[in-house]
Amino acid sequence: MNRTIAVAALAAGAGLTACAPQVPVTRGQYAQYFQEFCAGCHGATARGDGPGAAGMVPPPADLTQISARNGGTFPIEKVMSQIDGYRSGPRAMPEFGSYLVDDRTVMVETEPGVFTPAPERLAGMAQYLESLQRP
Ligand code: HEC
Repeated sequence: MNRTIAVAALAAGAGLTACAPQVPVTRGQYAQYFQEFCAGCHGATARGDGPGAAGMVPPPADLTQISARNGGTFPIEKVMSQIDGYRSGPRAMPEFGSYLVDDRTVMVETEPGVFTPAPERLAGMAQYLESLQRP
């Protein structure tokens, strides 16, 4: 899916601008965040085999198979919730909201034609994970 992530022009009156510029995903930056914050559990290649994974219950997920586990669609909203800790219930994974939230908000196309506001770095991280998906 060719997902659109647009910078939100949320200034008063601007509403959701249809022609907002797209945020260039600097893959390198998110790859670096991933190695810094996530690889310890999920593994350097995101397969769920990081050094911290041993003995974890539940085990860290294989993040290359998120779409495969979800019928071929990448559930970006769920992924963002998982990362920032918004999802409630018992969880073994720490919350990263405070690391990945900054003052820039972007509009993420969570379903075709449906845009949801999200912190830019959280959206960027989710989109980076989307780029790692394997069939
Ligand atoms: C301390 C270990 C640990 C770290 C660090 C960690 N995770 Fe996780 N992650 C888990 C575990 C365990 C699960 C599965 C169980 C759960 O939900 O807690 C999980 C699940 C997930 C899922 C859900 C996958 C699915 O298909 O449902 C996503 C997405 C995810 N992690 C992304 C990340 C990202 C991105 C980072 C870095 C910002 C990260 N994780 C850092 C342990 C970790």
